[in-house]
Amino acid sequence: MGKYADEINKRRTFAIISHPDAGKTTLTEKFLLYGGAINLAGSVKGKATARHAVSDWMEIEKERGISVTSSVLQFQYGGFCINILDTPGHQDFSEDTYRTLMAADSAVMVIDASKGVEAQTRKLFKVCVMRRIPIFTFINKMDRDANDTFELLDEIEKELGIATCPINWPIGSGKEFKGVYDRENQCVITYADTEKGTKEGHATQIPLTDTDKLISYIGEAFREQLTDEIDLLDGASAEYDLDRIRAGELTPVFFGSALTNFGVEIFLQHFLKMTTTPLPRKADIGLIDPVENDFSAFVFKIQANMNKAHRDRIAFMRICSGKYEASMEVKHLQGGKVMRLSQPQQIMADERKILEEAYAGDIIGVFDPGIFSIGDTLCMPKEQFQYEGIPTFAPEHFARVRQLDTMKRKQFVKGITQIAQEGAIQIFQECNTGMEEIIVGVVGVLQFDVLKYRLENEYNVEIRLENLPYEHIRWIENKDISLDTLTGTSDMKKIKDLKGNPLLLFVNQWSIKMTEDRNPGLILSEFGRN
Ligand code: G4P
Repeated sequence: MGKYADEINKRRTFAIISHPDAGKTTLTEKFLLYGGAINLAGSVKGKATARHAVSDWMEIEKERGISVTSSVLQFQYGGFCINILDTPGHQDFSEDTYRTLMAADSAVMVIDASKGVEAQTRKLFKVCVMRRIPIFTFINKMDRDANDTFELLDEIEKELGIATCPINWPIGSGKEFKGVYDRENQCVITYADTEKGTKEGHATQIPLTDTDKLISYIGEAFREQLTDEIDLLDGASAEYDLDRIRAGELTPVFFGSALTNFGVEIFLQHFLKMTTTPLPRKADIGLIDPVENDFSAFVFKIQANMNKAHRDRIAFMRICSGKYEASMEVKHLQGGKVMRLSQPQQIMADERKILEEAYAGDIIGVFDPGIFSIGDTLCMPKEQFQYEGIPTFAPEHFARVRQLDTMKRKQFVKGITQIAQEGAIQIFQECNTGMEEIIVGVVGVLQFDVLKYRLENEYNVEIRLENLPYEHIRWIENKDISLDTLTGTSDMKKIKDLKGNPLLLFVNQWSIKMTEDRNPGLILSEFGRN
């Protein structure tokens, strides 16, 4: 036992969360550059052209030049084996984006210094908090005019409810960006606008005590301001506490500029030191230790139809313990079968690579003949345990589905149920209306198009979607509640999922609050249990 400890302990698996345009892609490119995975930053840039040319995953993806799937990037740096999980944004924001966070051990939150905390970051952050994973903040674009630094920290604390601990502190921003002050080493690292794509250049380090040199680099006014701010910071900000960071209660904050490659390597180095190795995961028999246990994994994402000709699906799994070796036999717990995983792959950006081995912390994608569901466990044939399920995340867009040709009811039900099982959409039924109509909920509106497209192309069923005004869904935690007696606002809608669990749809937060007030003891949740 424990013979793979070295391999497993060098793994760091994290996701980057951000609002579109904050700089996630640029930062990832720079990480890869340090890892030597690419020679020239810019080559991972996943937008339009690059993906267009090589991706055959879905027609929609091609048509729109966006990625519907999320991928994993692996690279080596400083003795670590790093897995970055991509969290799709823009229009391709979907429940998969949330699920990806279930497979990560920590999250890097990229914030645009001139925008502060934005909507998508807020949503993804909630999932990190639910999982209590460590969150590291990189405040990006300091080479552009930034918001007041203290206000930015205040915003993170108030909006996201996490304490902040700046590891470095910016001096000026935009054209006046002079560099950062390293609080631990008490020195200033001067800003060097290294060229895009080259390694971090010749930033100079000046001890705070070397007043003359400091003035010559940053000027007297900035030096004075810095000294004042250091005093303020030492008095006001939370103390560095690694235990609190690892518990997700405190976020270390770094400032930099991904584009000009300033502060990126320093961030990476600190991050790797502070974040955790793959952690034990909760199963029904207790915690499963990544090093002490043999191979186990859980499915966190199912990607359908990557190759239309074969109608195949790929199940993405996070290895939670031990080592995976090609062609070994594993047990699919939910299916009750022992099997060999078919063509395990590592999906790297647009490239797929067949894997011979992988370890706890790694993500693999395997061909799925339609047997896996999200949350399923794989383990060694002799084992018998099941990982905690993946919650259902709240959709924000709802539509009533009307089937155009009622003769094709069977195909329609089959198609929509299968697509829901893959986790791209959620389906519900209205309560007490006696109607057979189905309501579909999605996290990102693109999924409506995907649904329509797939029903037409794979199941030969045409549908019409009628948008509904609801934006919030809540699961009811109380076991013994009767929907009939529940009094909500007039615009609230009562629905149920396929298992018959009651849910409520609301048009705004105010209605949720009113409903809670009117029904004492009612417990509503933003996450559903599978
Ligand atoms: P995303 O993945 O989070 O959506 O953001 P991405 O990295 O694509 O960055 C969004 C835009 O912000 C890009 O510009 C990128 O060059 C720019 N950017 C990223 N980091 C920094 C930074 O530190 N400073 C400055 N000034 N800009 C930054 P774009 O014009 O939209 O794209 P492109 O045409 O440059 O590729």
